[in-house]
Amino acid sequence: MTQNTEHLSASESGVQRAGEILRAGGLVAFPTETVYGLGADARNDTPVARIYEAKGRPQFNPLIVHVASLEAAQALAEFPPAALRLAQAFWPGPLTLVVPMKPGAGLSRLVSAGLPTVGLRVPDAPLAQKLFEAAGCPIAAPSANPSGKISPTRAAHVAAGLDGRIDAILDGGACGVGVESTIVGFDGDAPVLLRPGGLPVEALEAATGAPLLIGGSSPDAPSSPGQLASHYAPGAPVRLNATDKREGEVLLGFGEAPGAEANLSPAGDLLEAAANLFDMLHALDRAEATAIAVSPIPETGLGRAINDRLRRAAAPR
Ligand code: TXA
Ligand code: MG
Repeated sequence: MTQNTEHLSASESGVQRAGEILRAGGLVAFPTETVYGLGADARNDTPVARIYEAKGRPQFNPLIVHVASLEAAQALAEFPPAALRLAQAFWPGPLTLVVPMKPGAGLSRLVSAGLPTVGLRVPDAPLAQKLFEAAGCPIAAPSANPSGKISPTRAAHVAAGLDGRIDAILDGGACGVGVESTIVGFDGDAPVLLRPGGLPVEALEAATGAPLLIGGSSPDAPSSPGQLASHYAPGAPVRLNATDKREGEVLLGFGEAPGAEANLSPAGDLLEAAANLFDMLHALDRAEATAIAVSPIPETGLGRAINDRLRRAAAPR
């Protein structure tokens, strides 16, 4: 199915047009602080089903529902005390909370893929907030990339993967954080890490005062169903922890990396590296190298989310 994709600017009229398309059941890609999302009215089955179709998602993984505020989130789900504390500490921001859906929340069943829980997030991006206001409904949105491909951090990445398959792209420039949100679920009242992401685990642990339980570590039995081993994959194979560059490879460096075609952060700054990660993978993917070699990245702070995405990009397909 091919259609004309409208390219909208971050102007007042662009936002109003994007809101109108969402209200009419269309699909709009929009920027958050993490990555671009592919949004649809979360209350309506048909637009939500079109998300899966446009992405070519093989199965119905649950989608994150985006709202403007904690208050709007509480209309949709129950917040155990620990969830409420995390929401108050980190929303708006790159944190998704998986919490029990309220009966009568009015969300499409496709959003939660039949689970009794829902993933909720309040993004810290002014343009996303304006869009939610214009749309006036909760917005279901996975990352705006074809299934299994690298997540988009620029409107041009979205266009390269989904032009002709969605109704509009709202261009808000590059995403500041650059990796997807950290996902936290709850075992009773105990927070469980389901996906490392843009909010460092250390920040969560500092807020809760305890080490976080880790969930979804087995790729065969992911507790966050979208967490399959091979994901975020560029066309070329990826070789991790590379300390050299082999014949035919391009090198994606971190810190000091002589001969690197691109460097996530020459200064070794993990924030900068996260913001650059998908953009540089998109760029190197076009270079038609035999492989993309990647320098070692420390497993602390945002390094954890970066390594998680890189391991999935390197996993056998
Ligand atoms: O930063 C982000 O989180 C971006 C932006 C657009 O907000 N969104 C994003 O969505 O990364 P997506 O669909 O690519 O990843 C959503 C993840 C999947 O792994 C899914 O399984 C998990 O969230 N998830 C959603 N609802 C869930 C639920 N009820 N229980 C467990 N996992 C859930
Ligand atoms: Mg995704």
